[in-house]
Amino acid sequence: MENEVKLAAGAMVALAVATAALVVMPYMQVRDVTPPVGLKPYSSAELRGRQVYIANGCVYCHSQQPRDRNFGPDAERGWGRASVPGDYFYDKPHLLGSMRTGPDLFNIGARQSSKDWHLGHIYQPRAYVPGSIMPSYPYLFETKAVAEPGDEVVKLPPGQGPAGQVVVARPEALDLVKYLQGLNHTYPVLPPAVQATPATPTPATPAS
Ligand code: HEC
Repeated sequence: MENEVKLAAGAMVALAVATAALVVMPYMQVRDVTPPVGLKPYSSAELRGRQVYIANGCVYCHSQQPRDRNFGPDAERGWGRASVPGDYFYDKPHLLGSMRTGPDLFNIGARQSSKDWHLGHIYQPRAYVPGSIMPSYPYLFETKAVAEPGDEVVKLPPGQGPAGQVVVARPEALDLVKYLQGLNHTYPVLPPAVQATPATPTPATPAS
């Protein structure tokens, strides 16, 4: 009987410690996070594009978390400053990613703002980057003999499209590109350590 009580007590302690370390402490660390002044909420087109990004598994090859200089040369690669928790304020679910088969995309909107480039690259990455191992996403586009009014015709490099036909972006492709163009976290932020330090109160001047 005594052993059973010890076992049960030990199990409860282990569970309590695990809950504190994995649930309570992380919650307390991020609950007071506020969005940085420079961060805009997503537009509805960007939110739809984010769903296209999730549905097509872009996150399996692309991270969205430039690291600090001490952990890797992400800034030298042109991927931007290390991200801070507030950068992800509007992200549900977050798309941090853990694989970097392709470049980090946290600031792709700042690095590459051209809609034409993005559309063409999603249609056929190898038209822009020879030997790219990124998949093409032809089903986000339509091929037509002639463009109709209102169609967004993809401007591919010469000789890349289907001969004698035009490639037209579907709404999913247009939303996805809006999302990519909006990925721009180049606004300044305070480093997390500084943000967490409470401002030193000014001592009251004693009346003389
Ligand atoms: C199998 C891995 C893989 C998947 C899945 C993938 N990519 Fe890529 N991506 C790459 C690689 C590798 C590169 C670098 C070569 C290139 O530019 O094509 C790249 C490059 C890019 C770039 C240019 C980055 C830069 O810094 O110039 C963008 C934008 C991009 N991918 C968007 C996407 C989107 C959007 C999706 C989902 C629809 C996606 N990728 C899915 C591997 C992938």
